[in-house]
Amino acid sequence: METTSEDRSADRPPPADNRGRVAVVTGAGSGIGRATTERLAREGATVVAVDLTEASLAWTAGRDRVIPLPGSVTDEATNEAMVATAVEAGGRLDAVVLNAGVAAQGDIQRGSMDDFDRMLAVNVRAVAVGCKAAVPAMGEGGSIVVTGSVSGLLGDSGLFAYNASKGAVVNMARSIALDLAHLGIRVNAVCPGPIRTGMTTSLDSHPIGEVMAARVPLGRFGQPDEVAAAICFLTSPASSFVSGVALPVDGGVTAGTGQWPTYGARRAGFA
Ligand SMILES: NC(=O)c1ccc[n+]([C@@H]2O[C@H](COP(=O)([O-])OP(=O)(O)OC[C@H]3O[C@@H](n4cnc5c(N)ncnc54)[C@H](O)[C@@H]3O)[C@@H](O)[C@H]2O)c1
Repeated sequence: METTSEDRSADRPPPADNRGRVAVVTGAGSGIGRATTERLAREGATVVAVDLTEASLAWTAGRDRVIPLPGSVTDEATNEAMVATAVEAGGRLDAVVLNAGVAAQGDIQRGSMDDFDRMLAVNVRAVAVGCKAAVPAMGEGGSIVVTGSVSGLLGDSGLFAYNASKGAVVNMARSIALDLAHLGIRVNAVCPGPIRTGMTTSLDSHPIGEVMAARVPLGRFGQPDEVAAAICFLTSPASSFVSGVALPVDGGVTAGTGQWPTYGARRAGFA
């Protein structure tokens, strides 16, 4: 039987990491963005790390291959600057992780529309602006990863605006994946469940945090680096045929209907 190019590609060793790639990560000052920046740099990528302030990026001091860039992703100028900085540093742009995000609690009766607008601006509009800025600098083999959430796949009580923003960004990632596929640029969303970051510190000492952990089938909050590992798979050529997915990194949360407590929840005394 004749060997096709697809067959031959299986003979090549897979480039399993991000060595030599040039990347941008937003929301790199903390949590998932910082863990992703650190992991990409460990894997040998050059990373432009974007967050609101110089202080939030102080941790990058003295780190090889990490270039801090303070600014808000809601400003078009920040998006242009992050792309220009990456191209200046590495001659091209291979991977963009649009991860900066904000959350606020509030149900439909009491939640403020100012919070709604802020979440839509950072979690959705800025992602579109980031893609628009990045695409002209990217080519075949490029990868865009958006940080969605399990809150973009299903609803949560008291999070209507966050749910709206994450639902929008997850579906927008699918649409952009279809738009850019002909250029060889892949676009995917990771959808974390509850992760221990700056966004969830208020739950650390609160009984709700304990209940939430017990509802996760794996019985705990995730760590930022466990999400970073999935993001770095999606930025790397190891995921070369993966595009348009919304990948839950959630300890099993979205595997269930939530109707029945898991064995872990029963053991923890919640059923
Ligand atoms: N922690 C969780 O449980 C969880 C779950 C699902 C999804 N997420 C998503 O993960 C992403 C990262 O959040 P995290 O959990 O690491 O939280 P985090 O608060 O630790 O980090 C978010 C970072 O984004 C930065 N940021 C916020 N607005 C910005 C802006 N306008 N411009 C530039 N940077 C900005 C913040 O300064 C902060 O450093 C977010 O999109 C969040 O919605 C988090």
